[in-house]
Amino acid sequence: MEVLRTISALRARLKGEGGVAFVPTMGNLHQGHLELMRIAREHAGCVVASLFVNRLQFGQGEDFDRYPRTFDEDCEKLGKAGVDVLFAPEEAELYPVLQEVTVNLPPIAEELCGASRPGHFRGMATVVLKLFNIVQPHYAVFGKKDCQQLHLVRKMVSQLDLPIAIVAGETVREADGLAMSSRNRYLTEAERLEAPRLHYNLEKVLLALAAGERDFRRLETEARQDLANRGWKVDYLEVREAESLARPGFSEPKLVVLGAAWLGKTRLIDNLEMNGF
Ligand code: PAJ
Repeated sequence: MEVLRTISALRARLKGEGGVAFVPTMGNLHQGHLELMRIAREHAGCVVASLFVNRLQFGQGEDFDRYPRTFDEDCEKLGKAGVDVLFAPEEAELYPVLQEVTVNLPPIAEELCGASRPGHFRGMATVVLKLFNIVQPHYAVFGKKDCQQLHLVRKMVSQLDLPIAIVAGETVREADGLAMSSRNRYLTEAERLEAPRLHYNLEKVLLALAAGERDFRRLETEARQDLANRGWKVDYLEVREAESLARPGFSEPKLVVLGAAWLGKTRLIDNLEMNGF
């Protein structure tokens, strides 16, 4: 695997490449990331990953400084996963000057995770657009674990006419249901045992929906209450329409249950989709 640090070196390397599939990451890679690399390989002869902890998508007081940085291990995993090129720029390479031009997203970016992380999705979309312009991939692979991120990237690609096919990878979980995440390593031993409770509650809501329950508010409140009783601080836990992420109407579309909650000093997110009825 080639590790490239500059935009010019990456552009030179990719010049003339037939098909490029791209997987952006912030590193500290786990099986969820590696699954995206495998999917990328199915789509193109050249797989490019990026590793960049994007300051722009972290709010004041969030975990930018303590975000786990494990470059050597990450390189080894990517090499083994058959990634061809890793783009790992320094901060000054992507942001040589104050980034004043940013991506303006639709109002849904202010809901769910956006409500407790103002500006997060703008920062995410801005770096993803920059990376898309640098790599110019034919395919880009994102995980369903970050459901709202995937939704907004799809919207950006479609409404800004980017010639990139977005491919989604299923959420990869630990054996007890906990969605894999770089942030799981913040958890204490006791918190790690408690952590699958978020997934458990999402699943409970999903099962109730599958059984025909339609009192969304009641299901959401019960799930939030269960987590709160066990010491979690819940940011949100909501049933939404899977396509639009809007509040469900009467048309019985495909639904998704999304949640974000703090366990001690760690913010965990997860979601589960359910098919139409
Ligand atoms: P990061 O959190 O490193 O995630 C990189 C990609 O891996 C995202 O598409 C995310 O949805 C996916 N991913 C994370 N955990 C997963 C899991 N358990 N199963 C499947 N996929 C999983 O998301 C980001 O970085 C950043 O916002 C980024 C897009 C790189 C922009 O900075």
